[in-house]
Amino acid sequence: MPFYQQINVDDATSIYVWKISETFDDLFQSVSLKDVSLARLEGMKSESHQKGFMAVRMLLQHNGYTDFDLYYDEFGKPHLKDGVNISISHSFDFSVIVLSDKNVGIDLELRRDLVKKIAYKFAEEEFVYESQHNSEEFVRKLTVIWGVKEAVFKVRNEVGISFKDHIFVRPFEIKDEKTTALLDFNAVKREFLVYFTEIEKYTLVWLWEKES
Ligand SMILES: CC(C)(COP(=O)(O)OP(=O)(O)OC[C@H]1O[C@@H](n2cnc3c(N)ncnc32)[C@H](O)[C@@H]1OP(=O)(O)O)[C@@H](O)C(=O)NCCC(=O)NCCS
Repeated sequence: MPFYQQINVDDATSIYVWKISETFDDLFQSVSLKDVSLARLEGMKSESHQKGFMAVRMLLQHNGYTDFDLYYDEFGKPHLKDGVNISISHSFDFSVIVLSDKNVGIDLELRRDLVKKIAYKFAEEEFVYESQHNSEEFVRKLTVIWGVKEAVFKVRNEVGISFKDHIFVRPFEIKDEKTTALLDFNAVKREFLVYFTEIEKYTLVWLWEKES
């Protein structure tokens, strides 16, 4: 299945989801890539990553853009030439982009038990969910927390931000599909409005900075 879903967040913010069922060749024939992107594609080790990269270009084309409208800054953050904000994520079978008038960060993660093993790397304060450690609910919540931290990083990609020490996700319930988060870094505190939903076995998170 190609184009999978559009989520209209507000008047000027939409999320576009691509479910990758095409072969490498199908995608390669459908996207036009500039030389620098071709070189990146060739350098990728896994076909899954290559397909995710090309599916992002399919989503750009779906919105009237091409790879030629996209560029990356020195931190790896993507930008569109016309000034519309973009954030990108891909994970196995899905690629997502968000287009907005705001600086939105997006992240898609496959829900896996593995997240419990690596949680100590990115979470601490959030272990308020301790009583649920053996439940599926715990994996779902940890995946949200992980996604929030990746997405905050995409909004404010400042050198030195630690997921564990500087980004804090406030307690939430999965059914709420929203929460808030705090980035406390270099003596500056920034609040984020966080939204999330589950798509098949994946968790999708998007967020932006709250206006002060
Ligand atoms: C950059 C980072 C946020 C990407 O997240 P990810 O979950 O690995 O991968 P995703 O597929 O969700 O996102 C990749 C996309 O993020 C975007 N991206 C990369 N660097 C970025 C940056 N500095 N700012 C904003 N967006 C960025 C790119 O568009 C990239 O896709 P593309 O190169 O194919 O266009 C992540 O790898 C990272 O470096 N995190 C910070 C390091 C860290 O503290 N990790 C701790 C893990 S416990």
